[in-house]
Amino acid sequence: MGIVFYEKEGVFRLDTKNTTYALGLIDNEKFASHLYYGKKLGQNDSDLQYLARINEFPFVPSVNARDRLSFLDSYPSEYAGHGTGDFRDSAVQIKTRGGHSAVSFTYKTHRIYDGKDPLNSLPSTFAGAGAVQTLELVCEDASAGLEAVLSYSVFDDCDAVIRSVKLKNVSKEKIQIVKCMSLCLDMDNDDYEMISLHGSWARERHIQRRKIGFGSSSVSSLRGESGHQDHPFIALVNTDTTQTRGNVYGFSFVYSGNFYAGVSVNQFNSARILMGINPSDFCWNLQAGEVFTSPEAVLVYSNEGIGGMSRTFHDVFRNHLIRGQYKDKKRPILINNWEATYFDFDTDKLLSIAKDAAKTGIEMLVMDDGWFGNRSSDNMALGDWVVNDQKLKGGLPYLVNEVNKLGVKFGIWFEPEMISPDSDLYRAHPDWAIAIPSRTPGLARNQYVLDYSRRDVVEHVYESLKKILTSANIEYVKWDMNRPLSDIGSAFLDSESQGELYHRYVLGVYAMQERLITDFPHILLENCSGGGARFDPGMLYYSPQIWCSDDTDAVERLMIQEGTAMVYPLSAMGAHVSVCPNHTVGRVTPFETRGYVALAGTFGYELDITKLSEEDKDSIKHQVELYHRYNDLVRTGTYYRLASYGDNHEFDAWQVSSKDGTKALVTYVQVLSRPNQKSRIIKVQGLKENVSYRVTLEGSNSADDMKLYSLRLFSGSMLMNGGLVIRNPWGDFQSKLIYIEAVE
Ligand code: GLA
Repeated sequence: MGIVFYEKEGVFRLDTKNTTYALGLIDNEKFASHLYYGKKLGQNDSDLQYLARINEFPFVPSVNARDRLSFLDSYPSEYAGHGTGDFRDSAVQIKTRGGHSAVSFTYKTHRIYDGKDPLNSLPSTFAGAGAVQTLELVCEDASAGLEAVLSYSVFDDCDAVIRSVKLKNVSKEKIQIVKCMSLCLDMDNDDYEMISLHGSWARERHIQRRKIGFGSSSVSSLRGESGHQDHPFIALVNTDTTQTRGNVYGFSFVYSGNFYAGVSVNQFNSARILMGINPSDFCWNLQAGEVFTSPEAVLVYSNEGIGGMSRTFHDVFRNHLIRGQYKDKKRPILINNWEATYFDFDTDKLLSIAKDAAKTGIEMLVMDDGWFGNRSSDNMALGDWVVNDQKLKGGLPYLVNEVNKLGVKFGIWFEPEMISPDSDLYRAHPDWAIAIPSRTPGLARNQYVLDYSRRDVVEHVYESLKKILTSANIEYVKWDMNRPLSDIGSAFLDSESQGELYHRYVLGVYAMQERLITDFPHILLENCSGGGARFDPGMLYYSPQIWCSDDTDAVERLMIQEGTAMVYPLSAMGAHVSVCPNHTVGRVTPFETRGYVALAGTFGYELDITKLSEEDKDSIKHQVELYHRYNDLVRTGTYYRLASYGDNHEFDAWQVSSKDGTKALVTYVQVLSRPNQKSRIIKVQGLKENVSYRVTLEGSNSADDMKLYSLRLFSGSMLMNGGLVIRNPWGDFQSKLIYIEAVE
């Protein structure tokens, strides 16, 4: 790891273990120009300006001032300006007092330092002393009176570059920022394809791969949250890039609100990648002397295929973003009553669930929606965070004590950002909802969104939550958010500042979550948004796990979890076993398969255990054992995607192995069985070539399986190159869990 400035060459070089990122200062005016991003260059390679190709057409302004625009419109810029001649999509745009929008930055000075400063009020990656270095490139637009500090950090233990931007008003007048991307990266288009994650409620983060062409390809959100539909992540890959081979450039945005992520290809076949807060409906007033800080973007380059990129993202997020006492700890196995009871529960019902759960080894009961105010359906009471004594006879402390007596922890659901029109809170404070005067705001799930740009609103909600959380021994909070923002208007902000509301809203959510985890460090926080509509790196800074999807069907989950794990560690993926027919899709799958799929995440149950057969309860006991046996590996290990049901439409397989390559757990799910089919070969990854391994098929003592695995050993080389033989299970939706361990 290291950042070096080669003064003579005018080149900054940022190295991670396996990658190099380089930028240079071009021409007399010192335009900050992108030079290189990819595989690590030779140790002494510093003379990299030639990569900008400025001696070719068009010339730099100092040589050819008459064609300044041609230069601006073609040079690879580190932070592209707007309105002065670069006609590609810009990284930044402003509005001055005079109403002008042009802005263009050149280098002023820089600072290279050990460490990485946290971002003001935003989630940001971090590392201990000596483990991260930062370059701050200070650029200026003297005419506009604006400074841009481009920040780049590199860690010593992963191949990622972290970028963010600070805009500082150095003029004497207000400047409005109407666009501020966190990342701008110009590279030659290498026939790239773009990978993105798309979805819907109950169908989040499915993988899409498409060719990019001239013009723009992008994903975005204007929902006030990252959303079910698009995801703040894109990757560029070559046509022949696979899971295990080829170039990948991955970009992830550490933010939970409106975003834009895209690539546009221009006349010279150069690709510009932009990632940042969605400029639509964004307008930030920057008074003289003020600074606007953009969220971070994480850049990952891998020449080991998509899998290499995923593994780096997992390490960045696990080691440098997730915080709190559960960061590296096994999470309690929970049972949540949502699919078990929906709104129809009381103290006795919850206790009966807790009792049966305790007998199987489940460690925590989570009381979901419906425990507060007069919330008898999803039509009312959001905002009234007082316990409903009719449902919870004896109160919350009684319930929690009784649950605790069973040796079971207790967790609770909130939806702190919302307000129902039919609530005491709304009756008292109708102006607390986001709305535009004289326009009736649209309802979604019969609720409005609270104006989190207001301190008084956040303060009130926080105090009501705090009262509940201090009233009993609560050890987990599920923070839900069940509708997008619309009708954007705040009764608190003046007309000039309404364009700040979306971002201020996100800052309000971050501030409250920060307060929550600071005041209640022992509480395990799980974020959620109508399932997985806010599964993003911003949220991971506050909660080590996020509910992946309301869809708990084992087959649907294969694609949801594959897409999620392309970017996020398995330790963050909220995954539960539920009953069949599944409540979302009506599918019937084996209990075993539901368990194996959920074991790839944080693990828990979402069902009425009191209604299960003894056989299923025994299965839970067994799955609890499996969780304790394998979760350390799943949570901390290295992830490999071995096969994709999304691609092959028949079967799915993934693997987690220990960092030292001595243990691995392979999960195989046969979605559709096929007649007259030979056993499948699955090539394992991440083992040691010359080490001997024992292979165990979980739960099987069939003679054929014994012959296949238990009666012999395999070298790592055999398992990785020859492969693991999987006998076809009988029937659809069957699965296998295979444990591989080195023998001394
Ligand atoms: C959302 C969540 C569910 C559940 C319900 C409760 O849909 O994703 O898990 O908590 O809200 O209303």
